[in-house]
Amino acid sequence: MKKVYLETYGCQMNVSDSERVATALGRDGFEITNDAENADVVLINTCSVREKAEQKLYTQVGRIRHSDGPKPVVGVLGCVAQLEGETLLKKIPGVDFVVGTRAVGRVGDILTRTIDGESGLVDLGEREDDYDWTVADTHRHSPYVAFLPIIEGCNKFCTYCIVPFSRGRERSFSAAEIVRQTLELKRRGVKEIHLIGQNVNSYKPDTEAGLEGFAGKSAFSRLLRAVAATGIERIKFTTSFPRDFHEDIVEAIETHQNLCNWVHLPVQSGSNRVLKLMKRGHTIDRYLKQIDRIRGSVRDIAITTDIIVGFPGETEADFKDTVELVKYCGFDSAYIFKYSPRPGTPAHELDDNVSPAEKTLRFLELENVQKACQNKRLERYHQASLEVLAEGTSARTENGITGHSTCHKVVNFVGDRSLLGSIVNVKVTQVKANSMFGEVV
Ligand code: 5AD
Ligand code: SF4
Repeated sequence: MKKVYLETYGCQMNVSDSERVATALGRDGFEITNDAENADVVLINTCSVREKAEQKLYTQVGRIRHSDGPKPVVGVLGCVAQLEGETLLKKIPGVDFVVGTRAVGRVGDILTRTIDGESGLVDLGEREDDYDWTVADTHRHSPYVAFLPIIEGCNKFCTYCIVPFSRGRERSFSAAEIVRQTLELKRRGVKEIHLIGQNVNSYKPDTEAGLEGFAGKSAFSRLLRAVAATGIERIKFTTSFPRDFHEDIVEAIETHQNLCNWVHLPVQSGSNRVLKLMKRGHTIDRYLKQIDRIRGSVRDIAITTDIIVGFPGETEADFKDTVELVKYCGFDSAYIFKYSPRPGTPAHELDDNVSPAEKTLRFLELENVQKACQNKRLERYHQASLEVLAEGTSARTENGITGHSTCHKVVNFVGDRSLLGSIVNVKVTQVKANSMFGEVV
């Protein structure tokens, strides 16, 4: 039995693709291993969103080439594979085959052919219509939590972003199929599903199937209600796109307790001028109205965001606008990135007049502001009782259990293993930057 080591970088879509690749390979008679050193095959599912992420591929293949012992077969999957295609074979000696973002269903076949002696196979083709979405329980990070892609690709073409090129145009999966899979996951003991996509709220299926009878302005809020009606315990969704974020989504959360109280709504910049340069299609005014609506909800909804600092042309005044926005919004957390030029995107052609040193300064300043706001914001959880899904054991403490709250915070507590898979009421006794600690109530 050939042993396959599968390394995954990047977003949840990549994680989800890898879970399905692992499941399919297991079915084809391969063994999935955590031991990279002794693997017969190394598959790298790559990310190209920033230069640093892309660099990981080169470092990893370099490490394999220069290690002692027999050399494994190396396959590159994901976004870098899709963008570079055949050139990867020449650019990185040691790469045996390349499989793009929508061809992952054929990795098993390509791998078998490579082992049988074919070389330089490249597949950048489309998904098969009868693509198998099944993920074996053992290939998820927790048996109780599952990712479910509802839309893939992106049509937005924000000027800095490579995703529309690496993942292609938006394609929504049918609501009937999403509901069917939710029911199947529920039957297998999954407690929480994450509906995932680059822009989940741009969801637009070709067919009404599965949405009949569910009201709402957008197909996405109707899908939320349809999935909520399955009775699965918890539903989270990410990422939301501000331009398409309408009140009906908040209304759905307010109606269905199993729609969790967490929204990830990337703002990218606090300056209208920069948002325009980024072609985001939303203004600060509108974004703040959305924030006010979410904050005004009867549910205490956690809001998280993504922000890019040092976009070409970002002035000190633009940056200050971002700082002000962060202070106003009080995000539960924010992923802050220094702008990274991506070849092939429109922003790559702009004159980048923000020096690397200035980008770093802005990054650090914003990080500090966010930390201070976050600490203040998270105080509201202190002594509060949160519903936590006991997802797994934590090695750090004896009888430690770790999980997430409905507002998507990592919460650690001490408890019996028999709690695993259930939703536990935990009183928060300690709030840290990225996690909380509590006691079972
Ligand atoms: N440089 C820096 N950050 C980027 N992101 C996307 N493209 C770039 C880039 N070229 C960030 C955005 C997005 C997140 C997933 O990655 O903030 O929301
Ligand atoms: Fe990239 Fe913009 Fe699409 Fe998000 S919406 S994936 S940032 S192009």
